[in-house]
Amino acid sequence: MEIKVALRQERKEKPSDESKLGFGKVFTDHMFLMSYDRENGWHDAKIVPYGPFAMEPSSMVFHYSQSVFEGMKAYRREDGGIQLFRPRDNFKRMNVSNQRLCIPQLNEEDCLQGLIELLKIDKDWVPSAPNTSLYIRPTIIATDAALGVNASNSYLFFIILSPSGSYYASGLKPVSIYVEDKYVRAVRGGVGFTKTGGNYASSILAGDEAHKRNFSQVLWLDGVEQRYVEEVGSMNMFFVFGKKLVTPALNGSILPGITRDSVIKLAKKMGYEVEEKRIDIEEIRAGAKDGTLTEAFGSGTAAVVSPVGRLRIHDEDYVIGKDEETIGELTQKLYDTLTGIQYGRLSDDMNWIVKVD
Ligand code: COI
Repeated sequence: MEIKVALRQERKEKPSDESKLGFGKVFTDHMFLMSYDRENGWHDAKIVPYGPFAMEPSSMVFHYSQSVFEGMKAYRREDGGIQLFRPRDNFKRMNVSNQRLCIPQLNEEDCLQGLIELLKIDKDWVPSAPNTSLYIRPTIIATDAALGVNASNSYLFFIILSPSGSYYASGLKPVSIYVEDKYVRAVRGGVGFTKTGGNYASSILAGDEAHKRNFSQVLWLDGVEQRYVEEVGSMNMFFVFGKKLVTPALNGSILPGITRDSVIKLAKKMGYEVEEKRIDIEEIRAGAKDGTLTEAFGSGTAAVVSPVGRLRIHDEDYVIGKDEETIGELTQKLYDTLTGIQYGRLSDDMNWIVKVD
């Protein structure tokens, strides 16, 4: 694929203190763009200075949210090089989301080529402080200037880059989670398995109410009986019962996380039994009460592996594991192994790494 390049004349100033990056607040010098229309398919791939779009207020994405996105990261190795973690899986999942949202399929290799070219240009933005990375946000939006409710005929695909630290302000410290029993995130036949903006917009109210109660996230239950564990919006969930790791099965209403899949594969390799199944919240409550639930954690690109220290289930609080502050043994081991591979400190036995530089 031919990619036109127009570089920024004057480079932006980079953050001076990488330990204070936060998540998704700073953006690099350039972005990758590609357009779609019926006549030309995906075309006009280019790398241009990062900056605002001029768009019609009638653009379909503003009204009916026909859009999808992905989340991935570039990591700085100790030798100064840069690498990606399972990037092809992200573009493959983007195409799954596209299919559900009636957005045309992408050529996944073209997307990866565009991303790699962009990273080579903005490589100095990949941070090197501990636990930092360059967060990558590929996105597609519907751009037809029309108000009819149907699939747009034109789209814009873009990739923006953001040097970031931990997703949670608390870093790797265990988070507290409110098991949501009022609102629901997704229902059977809906879009819960896709990465589409609406899934996140509709979660904000529940998140706000949970924050007011001093919880950092909500854990969604199924949309019909509000009884079976689904996901945390920003992460898939795992529960450790001794030598067994349990996670909700992919049922169509939760995101098929790439970190989730990596955690399953790593835990199996470490000798743990992994069960993907429908999990009744009462099973979690019982395990938390009698101590058989020894650890709980979430997994996600932004969240990595995030320990859960406390769960509120139907108005009652349950501390998971030894105490609310301590990170469980398997959680720590998975975090260390996963990040070890991502940052190139451990060998990539699974063939998950794509080197950029
Ligand atoms: C990611 O982990 O990449 C996501 O897209 C989750 C988002 C809430 C930051």
